[in-house]
Amino acid sequence: RSHRIAVIPGDGIGQEVIEAGKKVLSALAEKSGDLCFEFVDFDWSSQRYLEKGEYIPAGGLDKLSRFDAIYFGAVGSQDVPDHISLWELRLAICQGFDQYANVRPARVLPGVNSRLKGAESIDWIIVRENSEGEYSGNGGRVHQGFPDEVGTEVSVFTKKGVERIHRFAFQLAQSRPRKQLTLVTKSNAQRYGMVLWDEVFFEVAKDYPDVSIDRELVDAVTTRMVLKPETMDVIVATNLHADILSDLAAALSGSLGIAPTANLNPARTFPSMFEPIHGSAFDIAGKGIANPVGSFWTAVMMLEHLGESTAAERLMAAIERLTASGLQTKDLGGTATTRDVTQAICADIERQ
Ligand code: NAI
Ligand code: MG
Repeated sequence: RSHRIAVIPGDGIGQEVIEAGKKVLSALAEKSGDLCFEFVDFDWSSQRYLEKGEYIPAGGLDKLSRFDAIYFGAVGSQDVPDHISLWELRLAICQGFDQYANVRPARVLPGVNSRLKGAESIDWIIVRENSEGEYSGNGGRVHQGFPDEVGTEVSVFTKKGVERIHRFAFQLAQSRPRKQLTLVTKSNAQRYGMVLWDEVFFEVAKDYPDVSIDRELVDAVTTRMVLKPETMDVIVATNLHADILSDLAAALSGSLGIAPTANLNPARTFPSMFEPIHGSAFDIAGKGIANPVGSFWTAVMMLEHLGESTAAERLMAAIERLTASGLQTKDLGGTATTRDVTQAICADIERQ
């Protein structure tokens, strides 16, 4: 089986970890014999923006829409304001392709040291609404530059948008052994959109009686994640809340360098996009020491989406043998380079 993958390494360590991820996927394909990837690289990056004034060329999304999946690194540069890089590239793809479900698993991999007591019991999937809410881009600035300047950032929650993400989260929870779903909002302080979230959640819940549900306010759930990690399974939250909670989840389970994300278009009318959750990491870019495990785990999610469950399981097992072996990059307390880690996992895949 052959899969056409659009590769957008982007900026900083995005380029380093995606290069590593492609090597691992190629090793996996070579080993399995009946699996093949056609990678097509796109140079959509901040460097391109600085040279040509655009991240995505005219017709770019159309071209991208013909791929089976998108493998994305990170975007963000010290020379471009973050709100421009994020909106012009990553959000343009997520929103353009209606990738409304952002899925972020968190688990402590073998051999990885978490500073959190009881971290072994972390086995969460955070479901983030990825198309509207706080990141709808709805707002403005008036009296710009004057002392009475005002900026608004208005969240938009549509009933359709809320219902589809809740259904997605319920179905995901239903597929897991514990079948538990935690609703996160802030519906005590925010009286409109957040209350709509809650109401739609409990309406949708009626269709999934086998899923056990509970609810938390977003501030309270941070303490529950830290103090009682074993009490949670699947978590559904808004674009902003889940953005924050998933960085916390990544840090609690070891490092930001490990965690993966899928930006899914569940209807499959457009390709889905897979990326490590971290950014372009200015502080370590170009040094060859970025942890590529996040991009490997991201590749596992991409394989699952492509229906390659055997290859996905093999790659996940190889990742776990790698982390268990103690060969770790600096963020995990080790001294290995990106290349050391990549070579080790490729060699392991060849041996299996
Ligand atoms: P960041 O994730 O790039 O870095 C935060 C910290 O984690 C840094 O100390 C970095 O060295 C470390 N880190 C991250 N990934 C690592 C890895 N694979 N291995 C080892 N250490 C790792 O977040 P930051 O610094 O807030 O943002 C930097 C730029 O990236 C900004 O321009 C931001 O907008 C962008 N960004 C882009 C994202 C995306 O494309 N999805 C996500 C997050 C940030
Ligand atoms: Mg984030």
